[in-house]
Amino acid sequence: MYRIFVTREWPGDLLSRLEADRYSVEIWPEYTAPPSEVLRARAATCDVIVTTVEDRIDASVIEAGARSLRAITQAGVGVDNIDLDAAASFGIPVTNAPDVLTDATADLAFALMTAAARRIVEGDRYVRDGRWSTWHPSLLLGKALKGATVGVVGLGRIGFAFAERCRGFDMKVLYTARTEKPAAAMHGWRFAPLDKVLSQSDFVSLHVPLTNETRGLIGARTLSLMQPGSVIINTARGPVVDTPALVDALRVGRPGFAALDVTEPEPLPPTHDLLTLSNVIVTPHIGSSDHPSRSAMIRLAIENLRSILEGSGPLNPVGHSSPQSAV
Ligand code: DGY
Repeated sequence: MYRIFVTREWPGDLLSRLEADRYSVEIWPEYTAPPSEVLRARAATCDVIVTTVEDRIDASVIEAGARSLRAITQAGVGVDNIDLDAAASFGIPVTNAPDVLTDATADLAFALMTAAARRIVEGDRYVRDGRWSTWHPSLLLGKALKGATVGVVGLGRIGFAFAERCRGFDMKVLYTARTEKPAAAMHGWRFAPLDKVLSQSDFVSLHVPLTNETRGLIGARTLSLMQPGSVIINTARGPVVDTPALVDALRVGRPGFAALDVTEPEPLPPTHDLLTLSNVIVTPHIGSSDHPSRSAMIRLAIENLRSILEGSGPLNPVGHSSPQSAV
């Protein structure tokens, strides 16, 4: 009987169906990630660990599983929490769950952009604080989406889906990516280097995976290129942005607003400097949190582990021999 350790409870009955099907499934019962010592202990005794974004699968966990682990299947698209070099050196396949959360994440990025532009969170607070005394021509004036330029940093699956939503709102799309994309040209989206995207956009949305190249990509220098009053949206990974530099930049209004679903650190403590600023909204890493996406994420993780254990190999391999996962 194969032993599977799943680091979170997931909605739906897919894990109990796996259990009914000659797999022994242990689900970590707590709301937060298992600590390292638990991950190491399970790695040493299980065939597969089903992981999520917050589980630190570092070299020590992988080494502990060197004799037993036959796969690590991430129920999500980004795999920056997993030491892929260590996994490759022990020949342990790693898989992810691409595509299934593209629309959910693009939706949230668009929702954050709209919330920032039209000051929705501020408006809600204003009403709750009992400050709504009258209709006034200058109350909570915001930015228009139509005709505005949106800069998309990273035109992988999610960046592309986000840009499509912007097209539907008559926004001009400028993007940067490792290479120019023919499909983007067909939509009239213009390719430009990062600096130009930052300096020419009213809104900038980040859609790059976290790698050595993208860590701190948005820092003091790049933030200073942004237009005063512009908006930055991050649904990718917190460390793509240098947070102290973002706090400084928001204090001087360049950019004028940040709408963040991911932060560094994560979770963001309520006393963090970012949360002392009124020109910031933060959601708790919920980009993929809609019912169909979460079901599909765990389904794909299970399909990958079944395929590996039953001898057909990984369906969605990630690592050095496979294409870089574009978030
Ligand atoms: C992912 O899958 O990479 C997301 O960030 C988790 O929702």
